[in-house]
Amino acid sequence: GKVAVMMGGSSSEREVSLMSGGGVLKALQSRGVDAHAFDPSEKPLFALKEEGFERVFIILHGPFGEDGTLQGALETMGIPYTGCGVMASAIGMDKWRTKLLWQSIGLPVPAFRLLEEGSDLDRVVAELGLPLFVKPACEGSSFGVTKVKTAADMRAAYEEAKKYDDLILAEQFIGGGEYTCAILGERALPSIKIEPATEFYDYQAKYFRDDTVYRCPSGLDAETEARVHQLALKAFQVMGGTGWGRIDFLMDEAGRPYLLEANTAPGMTSHSLVPMAARQAGMSYEDLCLAVLDLAHV
Ligand code: DAL
Ligand code: MG
Repeated sequence: GKVAVMMGGSSSEREVSLMSGGGVLKALQSRGVDAHAFDPSEKPLFALKEEGFERVFIILHGPFGEDGTLQGALETMGIPYTGCGVMASAIGMDKWRTKLLWQSIGLPVPAFRLLEEGSDLDRVVAELGLPLFVKPACEGSSFGVTKVKTAADMRAAYEEAKKYDDLILAEQFIGGGEYTCAILGERALPSIKIEPATEFYDYQAKYFRDDTVYRCPSGLDAETEARVHQLALKAFQVMGGTGWGRIDFLMDEAGRPYLLEANTAPGMTSHSLVPMAARQAGMSYEDLCLAVLDLAHV
């Protein structure tokens, strides 16, 4: 039956979603799926029923797409959709609550503090050390993120993050490299090491710069790779994750992984990570799209 590839939307990550969605749409069509683009910022969701869509491939990033609201609407309409359900999507959108949950079952996360209007920023710096990251809790693609190198920059970093969300996090920097681990169904795909040429893996480094280096296989020894897989699967499972997702990590200098965040509708652009990991596992971009679609559920 007809498949809606839901893309675009109204979040800051709209442009990223259109890039991801364009790829997914083309891939599904090339494999004979009757797939069509559907942008929920252009028409109401009930048009899905009117237009006879039987399944939805969600490739919206950020609030009102990746955060459980759309998932809830599709549940009530009885239309199967890809990826995480309401709860995992809602938790995953919020980096603060995700970390609280992971921490509560003993999973390793970088130290973090919630920043509020009256927070003693010097004290946060003293506790977390420098550099540190300031970020909005509910964003993606590094919108509103600052790597803070001196205490004097904390206020500006806080104000920048505030443009995107009311919930602001300060997070300890862990300096042994950035990694990610994709999950497809019940399995973890090979990890990827990300080496941005920029100060950190920001929006430009993610989607536009051609000097970001991706290593897949990541070069971790077999034991650490297995540990990353086990942590990613556990982290996803405790959120209630289903279908597919991507868990981002930082490694410390001793080679110990720390969980950073979950992405429940990960990017599928030409520069994105899940397709890279799938390829390393022997799956083409088209195979990956079909596999994600096959895991659609209500
Ligand atoms: N939030 C972006 C799309 C990602 O995680 O890939
Ligand atoms: Mg993210």
